[in-house]
Amino acid sequence: MIHFSSVNELLAFKSDLTKKADSSKTRIRICSTGCRAKGALKIRDAFHSEIKKQKAQIELVETGCQGLCAYAPVVSIDPLGIFYGKLSEKDIPMVVAQIAAQGAALNNHVYSEKGKFYPHLSEIPFFKSQKKIVLRNCGYIRPTSIADYINRNGYMAIAKALGEMKPTDVIDEVTKSGIRGRGGAGFPTGLKWKFANGYKSDTKYFICNGDEGDPGAFMDRAVLEGDPHSVIEGMLIGAYAIGATHGYIYVRAEYPIAVEYSTLAVKQAREMGLLGENIFGTGFSFDITIKQGAGAFVCGEETALIASIEGRRGMPKPRPPFPAESGLWGRPTVINNVETLASIPQIILDGGGAYAQLGTAGSKGTKVFALAGKINNTGLVEVPMGITLRQIIFDVGGGIPHGRTFKAVQMGGPSGGCLPAEHLDTSIDYESIKQAGAIMGSGGMIVLDERNCMVDIARYFLDFCQKESCGKCVPCRIGTKRMLELVTRFTQGKAETGDIEKLHALAESVRDSSLCGLGQTAPNPVISTLRYFRKEYETHLHDKFCPSGVCKGLFRYEIATEKCTGCTLCAKNCPVKAIAGEKKKPHTIDTIKCEVCGICVEKCRFNAIAPMPNKQLNQVKK
Ligand SMILES: Cc1cc2nc3c(=O)[nH]c(=O)nc-3n(C[C@H](O)[C@H](O)[C@H](O)COP(=O)(O)O)c2cc1C
Ligand code: SF4
Ligand code: SF4
Ligand code: SF4
Ligand code: FES
Repeated sequence: MIHFSSVNELLAFKSDLTKKADSSKTRIRICSTGCRAKGALKIRDAFHSEIKKQKAQIELVETGCQGLCAYAPVVSIDPLGIFYGKLSEKDIPMVVAQIAAQGAALNNHVYSEKGKFYPHLSEIPFFKSQKKIVLRNCGYIRPTSIADYINRNGYMAIAKALGEMKPTDVIDEVTKSGIRGRGGAGFPTGLKWKFANGYKSDTKYFICNGDEGDPGAFMDRAVLEGDPHSVIEGMLIGAYAIGATHGYIYVRAEYPIAVEYSTLAVKQAREMGLLGENIFGTGFSFDITIKQGAGAFVCGEETALIASIEGRRGMPKPRPPFPAESGLWGRPTVINNVETLASIPQIILDGGGAYAQLGTAGSKGTKVFALAGKINNTGLVEVPMGITLRQIIFDVGGGIPHGRTFKAVQMGGPSGGCLPAEHLDTSIDYESIKQAGAIMGSGGMIVLDERNCMVDIARYFLDFCQKESCGKCVPCRIGTKRMLELVTRFTQGKAETGDIEKLHALAESVRDSSLCGLGQTAPNPVISTLRYFRKEYETHLHDKFCPSGVCKGLFRYEIATEKCTGCTLCAKNCPVKAIAGEKKKPHTIDTIKCEVCGICVEKCRFNAIAPMPNKQLNQVKK
């Protein structure tokens, strides 16, 4: 393997790759990371044998996430520009034959929306409003190939920084870009680097935070799985800017593909002289160790993460001193998020000014979101800051499945907030989201519809934070536990008058007195649902009724005779035979037999089955 001793050698290598690249060659790019869960590896093997069988001149390229995960397993075909999804092994002979013949795309595997088919990736609404900086290579390159990365301008930014810029020039460029840390707090990256650069020390460290413990989030995982070299290059640039000689990628062991690919990428970069001693002969030295986290959410908090790397129990420490002054083993340390770091090479190559053109006054550039929950296009998206929630959820995300109604979006991870429909036109920027009652967080976006109970949602996220509390400080350790008990009382029909006020007061004191971000933000789901969905709490409290049909015991199902067509589908599917009725006549549910499993509600195409107050429970209560 080539070992670059100078920037010129890297440039020569890149130019050789460009000369050899043949853009007219037919290539099938298959997502073989996240899509594995939907059989991508079987599809890959089927493609291999079918291409051989049909003697087709097609190259198969295994990539990371291509974004539209709802269509898993997905493939894109170059240069035809076709996007196929939801493939199974039996489809592969036809797909290969179509590609080899360059025939019309097979409609039953292309993206469709509102009855319209979109064979070409460039026309799919999901991709149209996106702007890819962080995800510029994800889904296009083989994450296991350093040559693929270099071929798309990889390592050109560190070459530029080392060849043409002083560390302070790098910091100025990053400051000019206006980028704020994507790990949650939104602290300006240029300023963080400036602080760390200013401290004198024999050793400094640079850490990449890839812990990503939020349920529903998979942005950082996708970058480490799909384009690990972009993170390494971002770290190299940051290390040069602050004067660090060693770095860590902290990635949770629950992300085995991310661990495997980032370990391989570090090895490749080291072998090629892009990590290690005297990089490009400039005298700058930097190397990276991969550190696997054991999966505690609190270990994403920077001081806990440092403790974890040092081999101590992952518990936060009061700040100051901030890590930039005294971090890993007491030395100046910068910790940046995966997404922040993956943006840095592009900022150095295009200039901070170009990046700052995107976004709003206070929030520049793009943001990656993981769309999950009740949304058609679950997946990974990158959009310019400043677009609205409505654009993300309805234009990019394709709206709510089964014609149901949008109720709220849970933003910013487990300790984010729930924003209702009246905030759909809120701009995606740090200030607007905070003002509306949520947080940008790291970019998890969980969409909820009319069948989600907001009291239960608050309970779910609070339960997560409570279990992840490290226990160091009393407000979080005991406060979240008491809050969880209170919210659970609502979901069980046991809440009493005054409990809403008690819950609110407790939430505020946990928020205001906890030591770290976990406890300070854990009450957010409760505070935001009390703010926007207070009526649901009141209905649970006074009527012992869960109008969304979620909290067991607080509702029964009833069939609306005027809506029921007597199609019998519900009766056929009821596992306990609780539904009776003649064909083409309204059906009824035997509430004694019914186990409120909800199957009939899912099956009914006429929306005839709805939750109703549970009279028996009300009578008992009265
Ligand atoms: C409980 C908790 C969990 C966190 N988890 C993460 C995480 O998984 N990834 C991350 O980058 N930042 C996480 N953070 C934020 C980090 O402490 C830190 O601010 C961030 O890594 C800094 O990088 P940035 O400036 O690039 O955002 C977490 C914070 C808290 C309080
Ligand atoms: S707020 Fe919670 S997680 Fe943070 S230090 Fe206190 S107990 Fe630990
Ligand atoms: S599935 Fe719906 S419409 Fe059909 S019988 Fe049941 S309730 Fe009536
Ligand atoms: S909720 Fe379940 S048990 Fe009850 S009637 Fe419907 S299908 Fe049967
Ligand atoms: S994981 Fe395959 S497209 Fe997202």
